Amino acid sequence: GGPAALARDLADRKVVISAGGTREPLDPVRYLGNRSSGKQGWALARVAAARGADVVLVAANVEAPAPFGVRVVAVETAEQLRTAMLAEAGAGGEARADVVVMSAAVADFRPAGVAATKLKKGSAGEPTAVELVRNPDVLTELVGERAPGQLVVGFAAETGDADADVLTHARAKLARKGCDLLVVNDVSAGQVFGRPDNAVVVLAADGPATEVPRGSKDAVAAGIWTAVAARLTPPGR
Ligand code: CTP
Ligand code: CA
Repeated sequence: GGPAALARDLADRKVVISAGGTREPLDPVRYLGNRSSGKQGWALARVAAARGADVVLVAANVEAPAPFGVRVVAVETAEQLRTAMLAEAGAGGEARADVVVMSAAVADFRPAGVAATKLKKGSAGEPTAVELVRNPDVLTELVGERAPGQLVVGFAAETGDADADVLTHARAKLARKGCDLLVVNDVSAGQVFGRPDNAVVVLAADGPATEVPRGSKDAVAAGIWTAVAARLTPPGR
């Protein structure tokens, strides 16, 4: 009971959160990136720490200082994020995470090759196209390595289209990814990136959907953690 902001319902839990957006290098000075600000992931880390969790934040290209009491592991690429998340999630042993949250925007593709030197206008090898290869799906790998009792939480930004509405697309993604929970953002209006507020629906693989109403990213983070905490195995089991 009590106000969510004062709850200590994550005491003695280890949580690992990815946030931000990966950058995939083209040459020493250029990359393919995305517009994720990392703000929702930062809020998740801040709120989890305030509620008693031991928090590791795997941060892809976010400038913000580490939230109080949070250990930040800085990464740039999807491959680096993958390595850090798998290590921090800890398949076994003492360091195993209770909750793993993939809020980072991971590039689905990276340039097939990285030029060792800066690409130059007018040079012999002046590029006309960028060849891309698939990045690993970190969330799917985390699900594959999930330890007993560990919760794996994915994120999805979806739009409704001619085929299906947002929640139908999200249900399909949840099933495809195999994670326990999927936090769904409706981006149909195209106004989430960089905004201070947010609203989500938390979908559970076994059925229930929890609506977290529009509010600050801290308020939304609190709602997400309440939905996650309700599903944690009781301590000492
Ligand atoms: N994700 C991941 N590794 C990737 C791509 C995505 O771990 N290479 C994670 C994201 O962090 C997020 C979830 O998967 O938690 C859903 O990301 P999303 O881009 O919506 O899913 P995709 O499977 O890439 O589907 P889409 O083709 O719609 O982009
Ligand atoms: Ca994607």
